[in-house]
Amino acid sequence: MKSGKFITLEGIEGVGKTSNLQYIQQLLEAAGHECEVTREPGGTALGEELRSLLLSHSDDNMSADAELLLMFAARAEHLQRKILPALQTGTWVLCDRFTDASYAYQGSGRGIERARIAWLERFVQGGVRPDLTLLLDLPVEMGLARVIDRSSPDRFEREDRIFFNKVRQ
Ligand code: TMP
Repeated sequence: MKSGKFITLEGIEGVGKTSNLQYIQQLLEAAGHECEVTREPGGTALGEELRSLLLSHSDDNMSADAELLLMFAARAEHLQRKILPALQTGTWVLCDRFTDASYAYQGSGRGIERARIAWLERFVQGGVRPDLTLLLDLPVEMGLARVIDRSSPDRFEREDRIFFNKVRQ
C-alpha cells in the first residue's frame, strides 16, 4: 500500500515556519513527491472556523481546558478528513504545527498537566504520529519582534515574554 510521509514543523511565533515550509515543499516536489501543505489549528473548513475562534481577539479569557479541547477538535477533523486520506494515497503531508504545539502552549504555557494532553493525543490520534518533526528555534525577543512587525497581534501573540519563554523551553 502507498503511504506518504507526515512531516510537522514547530517553533515559537516569528521563527520562520511558513517560509521554511515552502522551501521544504519545493525540495520534496523536486524529488518527485506529491505534497499537501496544511496547518494547525486549521486545514479543513471546520478547523479554520475553530482557528478563528481560538485566535480571535474577542475572548481573551477562554479557559485553558476549552482552548486545549478546541485544538484537539480541530485536529480530529484535520486527521480524519485531510491528513490520513492524503497519506493513504501516497501524498506527503507538511503541517505547520501539530500536537507538540499543544504540549508547548497548553501544557508548558497554560500549565495543563502533560498526562491530560497525552490522553487526548491517544484518543484523537490512536497510534498516528509524525514521521519527522522539525523544530525551529529563535530567542523569544527576536521572534516576537518579527511578528509585531507583521500584523496586529492575535490572542496568542498578545501573551507576555514569560509565557513564550515557557513555550520555547
Ligand atoms: P500560527 O500557526 O499562525 O503561529 O498560529 C497558531 C497559534 O496557535 C500559535 O500561537 C500556536 C497556537 N497553538 C496552540 O496553542 N496549540 C496547538 O495545539 C496549536 C496547533 C497551535
